[in-house]
Amino acid sequence: MPDETGTRITRGYTGYPETHAAMGSLYQRDFGQHPLPYSPGYKTTVARSPSLPLLSMPSTITEETGPVFGHEMLADLDNDLTCNFTGRPAIGERIIVHGRVTDQERRPQRGVLIEVWQANAGGRYRHRKDGYLAPLDPDFGGCGRCITDDEGRYEFHTIKPGAYPWPNGTNDWRPAHIHFSIFGTGFGQRLITQMYFEGDPLIPRCPIIATIPDPKVAERLVAPLDMAMAMPMDSLAYRFDIVLRGRRQTTFENRMEGL
Ligand SMILES: [Fe+2]
Repeated sequence: MPDETGTRITRGYTGYPETHAAMGSLYQRDFGQHPLPYSPGYKTTVARSPSLPLLSMPSTITEETGPVFGHEMLADLDNDLTCNFTGRPAIGERIIVHGRVTDQERRPQRGVLIEVWQANAGGRYRHRKDGYLAPLDPDFGGCGRCITDDEGRYEFHTIKPGAYPWPNGTNDWRPAHIHFSIFGTGFGQRLITQMYFEGDPLIPRCPIIATIPDPKVAERLVAPLDMAMAMPMDSLAYRFDIVLRGRRQTTFENRMEGL
């Protein structure tokens, strides 16, 4: 798939991450930007949310260093959900989901493992507890993964998921969405989130999205249509950029000679 410079991206990261160079304590999370743990409109948060104030702990080397992922971990079709389940094409609207992973200092994050899971085109998950009426697609598994390249870029090919109802209010529906898990170069950067699609009328009606206090922050979870990356006669594209926690790195110029 060509990027904005015309380079064709076939797979993610192929080198070895500079894990040690990237070490450093992580910035404190800004909880003003995250979903509220207690949000009665999203019923299960009532039982899940902590009843006592959280304690803030200084990070240690355990949180500041973390997993190292390499290109060799991936199979050829891991980032192609349109055919990675049986080898036959899945049913639905073919799309590309792509973007860049940076930290909050806008530094590209390479070697980051991105895992995705989603419902099929009818809004049904391949999970034994999903009893929705929509049928399973025998050729759609709904899971994929890839690793970011040197510029922090990633790309998936998949089927646009359908909306589905869920037992919360009397008639609540989830907008079409893709679940993301992102492992940076420190366990403290782990991020689990969801991506939505521009123009979906269910977005402002979703009780889960409503747990994010600032609507402007919630908008960052909505991927715009990206016709520049669409493949003619093949797939539309959506762009979803991801920001992980940054590190308080000392600049190179301030390091003592020989250290
Ligand atoms: Fe979901």
